[in-house]
Amino acid sequence: MTQTVSRPARARSPLPLDVEAIRADFPILTRTVRDGKRLVYLDSGATSQKPRQVLDAERWFYENVNAAPHRGAHQLAEEATAAYEAARATIGAFIGAPEREIVFTRNSTEAINLVAYALSNAVTAKEPELRTYAVGQGDEIVVTEMEHHANLLPWQQLCERTGATLRWLGLTDDGRLDLSDLAEVVNERTKLVAVTQQSNILGTINPLGEITARAREVGALVHVDGAQSVPHQPIDVGELDADFLVFSGHKMLGPTGVGVLWGRYEVLDKLPPFLTGGSMIEVVRMEGSTFAAPPQRFEAGVPMTAQVIGLAAAVEYLQGLGMGKVEEHEKALTGYALERLAEIPGVTVIGPPDTVARGGAISFTVDGIHPHDVGQVLDDLGIAVRVGHHCAWPVVRRYGVPATTRATFYVHTGYDDIDALADGIRAAQKFFGTSEVR
Ligand code: ALA
Repeated sequence: MTQTVSRPARARSPLPLDVEAIRADFPILTRTVRDGKRLVYLDSGATSQKPRQVLDAERWFYENVNAAPHRGAHQLAEEATAAYEAARATIGAFIGAPEREIVFTRNSTEAINLVAYALSNAVTAKEPELRTYAVGQGDEIVVTEMEHHANLLPWQQLCERTGATLRWLGLTDDGRLDLSDLAEVVNERTKLVAVTQQSNILGTINPLGEITARAREVGALVHVDGAQSVPHQPIDVGELDADFLVFSGHKMLGPTGVGVLWGRYEVLDKLPPFLTGGSMIEVVRMEGSTFAAPPQRFEAGVPMTAQVIGLAAAVEYLQGLGMGKVEEHEKALTGYALERLAEIPGVTVIGPPDTVARGGAISFTVDGIHPHDVGQVLDDLGIAVRVGHHCAWPVVRRYGVPATTRATFYVHTGYDDIDALADGIRAAQKFFGTSEVR
C-alpha cells in the first residue's frame, strides 16, 4: 500500500518545539518500517521513545559506577548511592517535591498497588500509628469510570480483601467526568478517592480541584494517576492538594522498569510497607522486625538504579525543552488533529471535541471498519497507533464501541505525522470501500 498525500486544509502556526532538532535526538526515529517507510510514531501514550541523552545516562552508569546503592562500603557503592539519590532529588524537583516524598517503583501500576496494599496491610500492622489509614468494612473507595485498569483493579482488589465498597463517578456523553453526584458518591464513609489526571483513552484532563475539595471536606485521601499527565504538562504537587501521585518513567522519555510514587510525607510515614526485604528495615530480629522511614520503607531490594538515573536524564531533557512548551506543543497538535479528523466523513472522535481541558490522546472510530483493521492499514503505511480498549474497558463500553484507534503525541510529533494519520485513515476507507478518497 502506498501513502497518499493530501494538502493541509489551513495555514498552520509554527509549533512551539523544534521538531526536527528533537527528532535528531531519537535514534529510533531514523529507522524505517514496513518496506522503507518513515516511522510515524503516534503511540507515545503506550510508551515513549528515548532520546540519546537517556540511553547515554544508563550506559554511563553501567560503564562507570555500577554497584548496589545503600549497600557496601566501597567507592563504587558510594558513587552509586550518590547518583541514585541525586536522581531522586532531580525527579522530585520536577514535580515540586522533596526527596523524602519520592518512592521508586517499577511503574505506575506498581506504585498504585503499593498504596492499595499498604492500606490493607494497615489492618494488621503491629504499630498503632501504621493502622491510621486501615480500610475495612463500611469504608468506601471512590474511583471513576474513566480509569485505566491500573487505577481500577488495585482498588477493586483492596475492597475484596477488606470488605470495603467500591463506588465510582460516571462519564458524560462528551467524555467528561459526571460530577453531578460528587457530594453523594464522595461522603463521610469515603477513605480514598483515586482519579486519573488525564484519561489515556479520551484525552480528558479532569477538574481535580473540585474533587480534592470534596475529598478534603470528608477527610478522604486523594490519589492521582499521573501516568498520562506528568509527561505532558507542568505539575507541582504543592498545587495539586493530593496525597499521592504516580507516574511511569517509560512514558516520559525514560527507561522501562521505573515508576514513581509521590506521597505526602505525613501520610507515607503512617503507612506500612507493601514489599518487604533488604534495605527497608530499621532493626531485624528472628522474632520480628521494624521498618525504615519513607522513602526507604517502600523500596525493598536492590533498586532499578540505572533506570532511575535514566529517568533523571529524561527529566532534564524535558526541563531543557520546558514543560510549558511541551504542553503548548501538544495542544497545538491536538487542535490540528481534531480538525483534520473532523474533515473525514465517517470518523468519530470518542472524547472531548476541542482542546479545552484536553490532552493529546485522540481515540476515534471509522464507520464500517473495525479499529484493528484501521490500525493494520496505518501500520502498513508506517504509522504506529494503538488499537483496542486501551486498558480502559469500562470507557469503551460506556461509549458503546468495541474498541477505538488511538493516536498519542509527544515532543517529536509534528504536523507531518498528523497529516500522515489523516491520509492513512482515508487510505483505510478506500481499501475497505467505505468512502471515496477525496
Ligand atoms: N497505559 C498505556 C496506554 O494507555 C499502556 O497505552
